[in-house]
Amino acid sequence: MLMSASDITVINPLGTPMRGSTHVPGDKSISHRAVLFSAMAEGTSRVSGVLDSADVRSSIGAVRALGAEVSLEKQPDGSLAGGITGWGAAGPSQPEGPIDCGNSGTTVRLLMGILAPWPIRATLTGDASLQKRPMRRITAPLMKMGAHFEPAGQEHLPITVVGGGLHPITYDAPMASAQLKTAVLLAGMYANGTTTLNEPAPSRNHTELMLPEYGVATTAGERTASVTGPAQPQASEVLVPGDPSSAAFLVCAAVMCPGSTIQVENVSLNTARIGFTRTLERMGAEVSMSRTGAAGKEPYGIIEACYTPHLRGCEVPAEKIAGIIDEIPVLALVAAHAHGVTVFRQVNELRVKETDRLAAIIDGLAKLGVDAWCEGDDLYIEGQPDLAVPEGLQFDSLGDHRLAMTWSLVGLTGKVPVSIKNFEAVGVSYPGFLTDIERLAQ
Ligand code: S3P
Repeated sequence: MLMSASDITVINPLGTPMRGSTHVPGDKSISHRAVLFSAMAEGTSRVSGVLDSADVRSSIGAVRALGAEVSLEKQPDGSLAGGITGWGAAGPSQPEGPIDCGNSGTTVRLLMGILAPWPIRATLTGDASLQKRPMRRITAPLMKMGAHFEPAGQEHLPITVVGGGLHPITYDAPMASAQLKTAVLLAGMYANGTTTLNEPAPSRNHTELMLPEYGVATTAGERTASVTGPAQPQASEVLVPGDPSSAAFLVCAAVMCPGSTIQVENVSLNTARIGFTRTLERMGAEVSMSRTGAAGKEPYGIIEACYTPHLRGCEVPAEKIAGIIDEIPVLALVAAHAHGVTVFRQVNELRVKETDRLAAIIDGLAKLGVDAWCEGDDLYIEGQPDLAVPEGLQFDSLGDHRLAMTWSLVGLTGKVPVSIKNFEAVGVSYPGFLTDIERLAQ
């Protein structure tokens, strides 16, 4: 199915319907938190189901550089499992050099909150994409708590965290961001009193759900979360369920690929993460879920999806965007096959992801001959139910894992091959994506 020439990968059509059951690798957000919270904890945590991908390896490398002992081993299913001994109440060690967070926004932004309370200097940096992403949204509330950064108030990496004694704050976040919320809550654990973060719309709530598993009480509402310090996390046991954001690519592929019916098992059914199933339902797609268990407070289960020939456009309101933020590229591709216009309201956050995903969606859909445009911060897509993909199309992942998978679905679920520049970016979140999807079509 795949031929590579330099940095171009040819993606051929699956050719047959997708059928049967599969698993996806561990959830990326929960894996990062399992690694980072275990590193902060007193004692040895046991973690399993951890995603083995470039992003999570950035978190593992970072906590090692800060003094945590990580002994995770590759399991037969490709996940990582084992022990992490944290620095606990002694705090992180002074790192020897800059900490390279690679492509991972979650690693660097959560680390800022983790390091801010401690009397160390740590320089955080990342790859070219991460160096372009905004950091002031994290450093501003942490500075309000008493942390220092050098250069002060700088938007882009590299940035040096100069930690010290913090005081609690109540902060009204300007955007719905779980990374921002988590950084503030993690710093708040080491401030004397209650730190509260209010957000304009609900963002993913893994931090609020997981910290109590480490013995740190949190309170959480629809748009607010708080923690009371001082609170020292204790070692825990974490099982990471499958990643719904990875499952979304298989689910959307099945919806677009004639004759398909698939089930994705053991996938997180956290309601803050499966908004994409609701968007698909509103487009008329056949998608259903059934809960089979829970890992701590994180529910998991099966998502089933079937080919749906008649999709219709829908409108996704602004308050639902944070719940589908990582799935908008692939949902935009599904919308390109629907009858009528789909509108995603207030998607400006897409401009500051691994790349400018808003511009990339519009450019990529234009290659398909599909009209997509912005009005203010709203994204409009005029679907074409009889979309015929031209021969010889080439897409550029722009080094963005979710764009690489989105554009690969054009070839996989269609009738003609497409080529993708820098397809290897999938390694950031779902290294086995192509093998998994091809296995469903055998
Ligand atoms: C994440 C939060 C989201 C999401 C990212 C992972 C997390 O980012 O897009 O992939 O694990 O907290 P924002 O906080 O910038 O919305």
